[in-house]
Amino acid sequence: MKQVFKHMDARIFSYYNEANKILKGTIPLPRMLNFMPSCLCNHNCPGCDWSAQNKTRYVMPAEQWKKVFNELHLQNSIRFVEFCGLGESMLHPDIHEMILTAGAYGWIIGMITNGTRLKGKVLEDLIKRAAFIRISMESGSEKVFDKIKRPKSEEDGFEAVCRNIKEAVRLRNGLNPNCNIDYKFTVGKENYKDIENAISLAIELGCDSIQFKSYRNVPSELDDLLKGTLDKKIQDFKEIYREDIIVTGSLKSSRMESKCFMTPIHVLVDAYGEVYNCCYFRHRVGSHKIGNVVRDWFNKVWHSDRHREVMRDVKKEECELYDCKFFKYNQLMQDFMVDSRELDII
Ligand SMILES: C[S@@+](CC[C@H](N)C(=O)[O-])C[C@H]1O[C@@H](n2cnc3c(N)ncnc32)[C@H](O)[C@@H]1O
Ligand code: SF4
Ligand code: SF4
Repeated sequence: MKQVFKHMDARIFSYYNEANKILKGTIPLPRMLNFMPSCLCNHNCPGCDWSAQNKTRYVMPAEQWKKVFNELHLQNSIRFVEFCGLGESMLHPDIHEMILTAGAYGWIIGMITNGTRLKGKVLEDLIKRAAFIRISMESGSEKVFDKIKRPKSEEDGFEAVCRNIKEAVRLRNGLNPNCNIDYKFTVGKENYKDIENAISLAIELGCDSIQFKSYRNVPSELDDLLKGTLDKKIQDFKEIYREDIIVTGSLKSSRMESKCFMTPIHVLVDAYGEVYNCCYFRHRVGSHKIGNVVRDWFNKVWHSDRHREVMRDVKKEECELYDCKFFKYNQLMQDFMVDSRELDII
């Protein structure tokens, strides 16, 4: 079985230099771009946090994403780009060109997708340049898939996505064994009974891992009691299926134990060129917005007083509306760089 990010949490220690700069009051250049090039989707998940925005069907125009990519490339700091929404990135008419451009700039790619457009030449070119392709299935059977994703055509349906995943695994084995094909399952009231089916299907399709998270801030969010019960099962499945697939994630609501200070290791840009402090800006657009890199130079936005102000004013209760991986990263860096200074000792 392949290893999927074996040293998951320890990766944050590679940002030692950046963390030192932040602690001294300087904002370092980001190493990762979180990019949301499109506000449209061919699925219609009732639990989607972005369903209102996706009704606009807006996509970033070619000259704008080229300006943003080019400017970031000239900074020579980005190593990784994650296409993460806010609708379906693979529906952007320029997605193939974006993938080729990112690759030409030496950026490794991560793609979070509903899997409906993972095919043909764009899939091949993505696999060659990607560290992971994460397909949000939210189900393990056609019946639940239809209820959760509400596809309108066969091309967007369960069987087509399963075929695409199988083909992605086959191509990956030949083109780039370092590209992980990961199955994602966001769990809510409508699909939690399909958890074990999904693990079986992910194994059958040849995926490297399956990740579970909870739907948040939508009517289909589970209550804490059920989250806890199901989470125990998921932790058991990690052991039961250990030989067949890596089961990751948790359904429990995470807590933010220390102040968020590591956000400048990444820059989040949406389809309008707006830069936010992190991808969890949906319920705090005004207070999380740093500036706009279509209208302004990246450097002007990034090194602005506004960026410091946004970082300073982050509110714990707003962050805890989500299960953010930075909770753990901030805590680790706080423990090892501020409280104990263990990373300075060898
Ligand atoms: C917004 S989608 C965008 C990318 C792509 N369309 C997809 O579904 O993978 C990215 C991820 O956010 C998750 N997501 C959507 N709404 C959510 C919510 N309310 N709470 C937690 N996760 C959510 C989806 O399950 C998906 O895995
Ligand atoms: S596929 Fe992704 S973007 Fe589309 S509706 Fe579902 S969660 Fe939202
Ligand atoms: S949700 Fe909060 S803790 Fe997480 S990255 Fe955003 S600001 Fe930081």
